[in-house]
Amino acid sequence: MSQTIEAGATARARAHSNIALVKYWGKNDAVLNTPAVGSISITLDALYTDTRVTFRSGLTSDELQLNGCRENADTVTRVLDLVRNASATTLFAAVESANNFPTGAGLASSASGFAALALAATAAAGLTLTQRELSILARHGSGSAARSIFGGFAKMHAGTAADGSDSYAEQLLAGGDWPLTIVIAITEHGAKSINSTVGMGSSAASSPFYPAWLATAPGDLTDLAAAIAARDFERLGELAEYNCLKLHALMLTTRPALIYWNAATVATMHAVRDLRASGVPAYFTIDAGPQVKVLCLPADSAKVHAALLNVSGVLEVRHSALGPDAYRLD
Ligand code: DP6
Repeated sequence: MSQTIEAGATARARAHSNIALVKYWGKNDAVLNTPAVGSISITLDALYTDTRVTFRSGLTSDELQLNGCRENADTVTRVLDLVRNASATTLFAAVESANNFPTGAGLASSASGFAALALAATAAAGLTLTQRELSILARHGSGSAARSIFGGFAKMHAGTAADGSDSYAEQLLAGGDWPLTIVIAITEHGAKSINSTVGMGSSAASSPFYPAWLATAPGDLTDLAAAIAARDFERLGELAEYNCLKLHALMLTTRPALIYWNAATVATMHAVRDLRASGVPAYFTIDAGPQVKVLCLPADSAKVHAALLNVSGVLEVRHSALGPDAYRLD
């Protein structure tokens, strides 16, 4: 095969993490990594991954350094193989990636990580992809990463094409179009026990609620997209909380059960409901980990912050506005 990439070709990119308000859980095709349901997310300004990709001669496989530590590069290679095919090179790459937030603890590091990888790797290879093509490429690393190509509000299409070509994300609104604040209660610093890929496979195989999860997803997507178009915050929050609890009902009825919550996770959920009862519109969402992400209007963020800091077991509280598209750093 001809080599069109110069040894030493390098590029850096930053992508921001995202949090789904209507969530992805379950796959149509494990090899293409196409999701069984569509999803809608918001991209977070405060949480991001910076990744450098350098194609080198002399490497016998791809190498990954994550936050300075050598890690298994198998999933990275899945994405880099597609880049190598598109650019007709045989060079392997050194990938250096750093998160500015805890890795693997339910803060969507795979979303920002694979979106940054897709952009940095294609840039290093001298390829210019559309955002839709980048979204499809990032999806091969992690389904949620397809959404982190876009800032603001992004919608992921499950798609039906056999080659995965209609399974991509697109932007619904830019972050500046509807400013919201996400207040994040960190309740644990360690890595999560069961990763999402394994967990969702297990739910599809064993939960009696999985058919209902698939059947009700399209309605949730339509309703949330309408709430976003109308800038109806209460409707958005109510739907996000409902969809999150539906996901966790699916997880809890998986065998063996996926219990991602700890005591502080549950206490924070109650604190958010108490805030609402006191007149502050705030809504929670939780992914495959113990952290609680609380959606509120920017004017209420100080009240939400104070309430979460007060919850027993909450270790740290972070804030984020909505973030931008993934972008090149060099
Ligand atoms: C609960 O995108 O991490 O955060 O495609 O197998 O890498 P893989 O899964 P991943 O799953 C995300 C699950 C979720 C919900 C969501 O982000 O939509």
